[in-house]
Order: sequence, then structure tokens, then C-alpha cells
Amino acid sequence: MEVVILPGPDEVARVAARRIAEAVRRRPDAVVGLATGSSPLGLYAELARQVAAGWLDVSGIRGFGLDEYVGLPPGHPQSYASVLRRTVVQPLGLDPARVHVPDGGAADLDAAAAGFERRIEAAGGIDVQILGIGANGHIGFNEPTSSLSSRTRVKTLAPRTRADNARFFGSPEDVPVHCLTQGLGTILEARELVLVAQGRAKADAVAAAVEGPLSSMCPASVLQLHPRAGVYLDEAAAARLRLADYYRHTWAHRPGGG
Ligand code: GLP
Repeated sequence: MEVVILPGPDEVARVAARRIAEAVRRRPDAVVGLATGSSPLGLYAELARQVAAGWLDVSGIRGFGLDEYVGLPPGHPQSYASVLRRTVVQPLGLDPARVHVPDGGAADLDAAAAGFERRIEAAGGIDVQILGIGANGHIGFNEPTSSLSSRTRVKTLAPRTRADNARFFGSPEDVPVHCLTQGLGTILEARELVLVAQGRAKADAVAAAVEGPLSSMCPASVLQLHPRAGVYLDEAAAARLRLADYYRHTWAHRPGGG
């Protein structure tokens, strides 16, 4: 795992966006896994800036959302389909038909989950998956004790996740109870993982993910199994890492780095 500690959120956005941009330059029709939440917003804004400046062409990429709430009315502003439209599809000028999100409004959610997996497979798999991390260590909506080999499926949100996400809804009771999420096994099949985290509230989850035991109690620890996982942190999110000096040293001395 490559752990990169950067001074602040702006640098996290810039360095993580560089990694995504490299993947897109290598493969202009790259399949990109798109996380929601506040963590990747700076990264998306940075990519949009590069597109607007003419430095990056994302017209050929395809996108897959990580997860979606179950039961929100179609077009609800907090559905992840809407959030991705506002924060990724529109700013980057993507063709909406090339971005797929699990269908949280489907009558048959199990069939929708299986169909979503098939769609990823038909696209040739995900080249680079962008991830945030929940304060309880979740990625996507894989809450603690999620199977490390799980696939896209229905999950019940942890009370803490609902409380954390209440800020996006009128009241805590308005946060859906269920979701569809890519599984940890699905996420592990992406060819490259890029996780971003900022702020002190994420420091314990980050430390458990990077340095704790591989355990479903911290779903993000599954990144330890991936051969190409990068974790981009600001100082606050890195505050509980025991080997922080080592990560700074390896980044400063990275092969080919500045
Ligand atoms: C959300 C999303 C995750 C996200 C995480 C952290 O509920 N399902 O994909 O990474 O929780 O959210 P935030 O980035 O807003 O802190």
C-alpha cells in the first residue's frame, strides 16, 4: 500500500487527481469507480479544472458509482445518482449514459445488484476505483463485519453512518436505512484503488485500515490485500499512524519522484 501524507486537503486533491489523470492518459476509455461523500469532492474539482484547461480529456471514460441509497424518490437531490451528476458528470462534461449507479429504486434489489455486477464485468472491470472512508472504517457502504469477499448487495446502514450523513438530509430520520453497495470483493477487483481522507474525524479509521489487522471490523483494511492501493491523507487524517515518518520518507524517496 502506498501511504501518502500531504500538508492539507488541497494537496490531497491535487496528488490523488494526478493519479486518476495518469490512469486516464494511459487508457482514454478507462473505467473509473466513483465514490460519493465529501472526501473526493476536491479531487473531482481538480479533475474538472484540468478538463476545463484542456490538459485532460475524459470524454472516453466510463463511470460506475460505488453505492446508492435504497428507496429515495427518483431524482432526490441526495440520491447518489443525483450527487454524482452534480459533482462529477456535469463538472467533467461526461456523457450521463456512460455513468452507472446501482438502482436503489428497483422493485427487485437483488436483481439490480446482480445486474450492476454484470455491467461492470461487461465494461471489462474497473480500472481505477476512487474511495473515501467512513469514520467507522466503511468503504462504499460496506459497514463493519461486511464479508471481505462480498459482492454488490443490499446493506443496512449502521446508526453511526446514518448520523454522519444526516447533515445532507432535512433530519436524521430522513436518511434511508438501506443501501445498495459494491461489495469488498467487487472493490478489490478494481485494478487500482485510490482512497482519500481528510480531517481528524477519520484518523482512527485510517490507522485501523492501514496499520490495523485485516479485519471485517474495519472494512477498509481490505485494501491491505490489494497490490495497487494508494491512500492519500492530510496531516489530520494521518494523525494516528504509527509509521507516519516512514510514509513521509518513502514518498520523498519514491522512484522517479521529485
Ligand atoms: C459515505 C459513502 C462513502 C464515503 C463515506 C465517507 O456514506 N457511502 O462512499 O466514502 O461515507 O463520507 P465523507 O467523505 O462524506 O466523509
